Amino acid sequence: MSLQIGDMAPDFTAETTEGKIHFYDYIDGHWAVLFSHPKNFTPVCTTELGYTAKLKPEFEKRDVKVLGLSVDQIESHEPWAKDIEETQGATLNFPLIADTDRNVSTLYGMIHPNASDTFTVRSVFVIGPDKKVKLTLNYPASTGRNFDEVIRVIDSLQLTAKHQVATPVNWKNGEDVIIVPAVSDEAAKEKFPEGWKTLKPYLRIVAQPK
Ligand code: BEZ
Repeated sequence: MSLQIGDMAPDFTAETTEGKIHFYDYIDGHWAVLFSHPKNFTPVCTTELGYTAKLKPEFEKRDVKVLGLSVDQIESHEPWAKDIEETQGATLNFPLIADTDRNVSTLYGMIHPNASDTFTVRSVFVIGPDKKVKLTLNYPASTGRNFDEVIRVIDSLQLTAKHQVATPVNWKNGEDVIIVPAVSDEAAKEKFPEGWKTLKPYLRIVAQPK
C-alpha cells in the first residue's frame, strides 16, 4: 500500500550532494518537501530542479526544507548541477539524494512498476513538523510539475493547521477562506469577531485569519 495522507513519513539515511543525511534529523521540527525525478541529464527534470532552486527563498519563508531524489549516482549529480546552473540560471541549493539502492524510493512508493521499473515517477511529499505526510502528488515522467502549486498547498496546509478554516478552489495566500463546518456559528463569533458571509449554513466565507 502506498503512503497516504496522515501516515508517518518513513525515516531513512541517504547519500546526498550535501553529504549523508539522516532524514528525521534533517527535517526536525520543520516542514519538508521530498520530491523525486526520474533521471539526471533529462530535459524536464533539469527545468524542475532549476525552478525549485529559484524558489528556495519562498520555501525558507515558510520554514520548509527541500530534498530532491534521483536513483542516479552521486558522481553524476555534480556535473548535472553545472548544466542546471548554465541552462536555468540557478544553483542547486538543496540536497539531492543519490538513491542508487532504491531504499528511499521504495519506502515512499516512488517507483511505479507499470510506468517504469527502473526510474522513479515525479512524486512530491509534503511532510509536516509532526513528520506526518500532508500531501502526495505523482506525475508521469513526461509532465513537469508546477512547484508554485506546491507552495500554494503549503500555504493552505500551514494556515489550516493553525486556524479552523479550509481554503476554497484556486485559493491563493491572502484571499478569503471558508469556516469549517465543525465550527458552530456561536464558536465562529469568538474566532472571527469581524464577522463572515453566510452563503449557505455550510458555506461561510471569512477573511483569511492573520
Ligand atoms: C525528462 O526529465 O525530460 C524525462 C525524464 C524521463 C523520461 C522522460 C522525460
